[in-house]
Amino acid sequence: MPMTIRMRDARPDEAPILTQLALRSKRAWGYDDAFMAAIMPDMIVEPEYVREERAIVAIEGDVILGYVIVRSDGESAFLRDLFVEPARFRQGIGKALFGRALEYARERGARSLQLCGDPNARGFYERVGMTKVGEEPSIAGGGRMLPIMELRL
Ligand SMILES: CC(C)(COP(=O)(O)OP(=O)(O)OC[C@H]1O[C@@H](n2cnc3c(N)ncnc32)[C@H](O)[C@@H]1OP(=O)(O)O)[C@@H](O)C(=O)NCCC(=O)NCCS
Repeated sequence: MPMTIRMRDARPDEAPILTQLALRSKRAWGYDDAFMAAIMPDMIVEPEYVREERAIVAIEGDVILGYVIVRSDGESAFLRDLFVEPARFRQGIGKALFGRALEYARERGARSLQLCGDPNARGFYERVGMTKVGEEPSIAGGGRMLPIMELRL
């Protein structure tokens, strides 16, 4: 990851900026307007997520290049979102944010970190040590299934 990038906690008022970043990031896989409209309810970052869960941004200057939101549910931790600015893919930002989520899950005493991911991101999640443990139907419908990924801590 470039040395000029720092991490800090997100602020609840940044939720709309995070939503826009998530939409740009998701689009990078080539999804069309109909698909993006179908998944919109899942893409909105509510200020409550930032306030009540752990939300961390990667910033360069004052520009947000990526973020992660993770919550701890006792025995397990759940990674709600991990999105990087498409122009900055493959520079280590995703891995660094994932590392922070992992650190938080461990601090909270979770035994595993889980997520329901985009199929295109599966290679990334495997690269950072996760394994596919199941599948879940996407809200986009049409029989699309999302991999459930897990890392035992
Ligand atoms: C998935 C995502 C977070 C990865 O972030 P990134 O900053 O590009 O990833 P990094 O540069 O930190 O990559 C870490 C490692 O994973 C690999 N990797 C990254 N993206 C990958 C992919 N799509 N498939 C396979 N491997 C991938 C990298 O080559 C790197 O390997 P290395 O450790 O051998 O160098 C980013 O592509 C993204 O935001 N995608 C769109 C949104 C999305 O689908 N997010 C996940 C929602 S569940």
